[in-house]
Amino acid sequence: MDAHSTTLPTGLGFGSIDQTVFFEGSPVATFIINADHVVTHMNKACATTLGIAAQDYIGKVGLGQVFYGYDRPVMADLIVDGAMKEIIDDLYQNKYRASLLIPDAYEAEGFFPTLGQGGRWLFFTAAPLRNEHGNLIGAIETLQDISERKIAEAALLKAQTEIELVVEQRTAQLAEVNQTLRDDVAQREAAEQTLLNRNNELNALNAKLTEAHEHLIQSEKLASIGQLAAGVAHEINNPIGYIFSNFGTLEKYLADLFHMLEVYAEWEQKTSDKAMQTELKQARDSIELDFLQEDIPTLMKESREGIVRVREIVQDLKDFSHVDKTLDWQFANLNHGIETTLNVVNNEVKYKADVVRELGSIPDVQCMPSQINQVVLNLIVNAAHAMGPERGVITLRSGQQEDKVWFEVSDTGSGIPKEVLPRIFDPFYTTKPIGKGTGLGLSLSYGIVQKHNGSIDVQTEMGKGTTFRVTLPLLQPQPPESDAPL
Ligand SMILES: Nc1ncnc2c1ncn2[C@@H]1O[C@H](COP(=O)(O)OP(=O)(O)O)[C@@H](O)[C@H]1O
Ligand SMILES: [Mg+2]
Repeated sequence: MDAHSTTLPTGLGFGSIDQTVFFEGSPVATFIINADHVVTHMNKACATTLGIAAQDYIGKVGLGQVFYGYDRPVMADLIVDGAMKEIIDDLYQNKYRASLLIPDAYEAEGFFPTLGQGGRWLFFTAAPLRNEHGNLIGAIETLQDISERKIAEAALLKAQTEIELVVEQRTAQLAEVNQTLRDDVAQREAAEQTLLNRNNELNALNAKLTEAHEHLIQSEKLASIGQLAAGVAHEINNPIGYIFSNFGTLEKYLADLFHMLEVYAEWEQKTSDKAMQTELKQARDSIELDFLQEDIPTLMKESREGIVRVREIVQDLKDFSHVDKTLDWQFANLNHGIETTLNVVNNEVKYKADVVRELGSIPDVQCMPSQINQVVLNLIVNAAHAMGPERGVITLRSGQQEDKVWFEVSDTGSGIPKEVLPRIFDPFYTTKPIGKGTGLGLSLSYGIVQKHNGSIDVQTEMGKGTTFRVTLPLLQPQPPESDAPL
């Protein structure tokens, strides 16, 4: 078969243009081999791509030499041999694929170092050529120089790699910044925690201050009331003194007068003077002498009780302001004080409650014993007053806790209502009927305990009872020389 004499079928508008004209004119580099591997056609584009003269190769075998620089089949050779399927994997590895357009045709790409200057990248296709009976008569192979694309791809790849590198670096930088930020946040959180702690400390301090302030207010109240009480007590003390003593004399005089009246009454019966008897009877009836004789002693008794009560209140006031006492700090046993005080108030307690003693063995404590006794007395009297109609129990306890000694007066009485509790230490605050309470007991006790650097605590439950606990230090830090007013 002579490729040069092949003509195109007529009727396509080209007249009798030689097929070679198309072949030669095609910009796709193409060559054809026959069944014996002999190159039958090679167009100009192909010769240019391979950098050879076509006539040097047409009619010959071994084009592989041109591509590879050594004797090796090209793809067209493999197709002609029908050996493609077995060998293609070896020769072209994964850089080939079957054509999507022509059965048994393949395409691949590869780098050919011996082509051109410094080698060329080629994309090539090879397809079987068959005659009208379907017999294989040769193969056609096309080549396409893709070096520029490859260079561009490589450049792209390089750029991409560089970008990836930059991205990596940036990511690392970001991670670093992120870490710094995280450290910052952690530091800030730590600072915040410190602030929070500081705040809590301040709050605690504030609470202490408030407490101290309340104590101050309490002792200020006590101080002013103390001065007032001292003045009032002083003013009232003298008049009450002579009223009291005059009262005694008056009672005696009255007794004498009543005696005298009895003598008169006897002689009234004895006399025979009717006019005198009548006048005396009239006078007696008009002043209701019988009633007077009955009522005057009652009035005197009530008045005496009243005066005694006033004297007690004045005494309370004096105790409260400590005006008439020079007191010494001494070591005394609280249990002893409690026992003596119980004897004194026995009268107040015995009809209302049984007394239970749960006194621990405690060391002597530095105190002003008469004042501490006063506290015990106030607490016991209050406990007795708290009892209802039923007989209750008053429990007296004492004990030691480290460098402190405490005692408790616990009752099974009414308990203290919530609204009353904040006021019980206020001077003159009382819930008791007039005449029964002065409202000074607890404020007095509070002042005394405070002066001893101790504390008073209350626990109470409505209907169950109340416990007052007094805690005193065993030793006074700096006991004052004398007892100054509060
Ligand atoms: N043990 C107690 N049980 C119930 N209430 C009490 C007790 N002790 C004190 N109180 C309450 O505290 C108030 C003040 O007590 P206090 O200062 O001793 O004054 P007073 O006993 O003269 O009323 C009392 O009026 C009473 O309401
Ligand atoms: Mg009282």
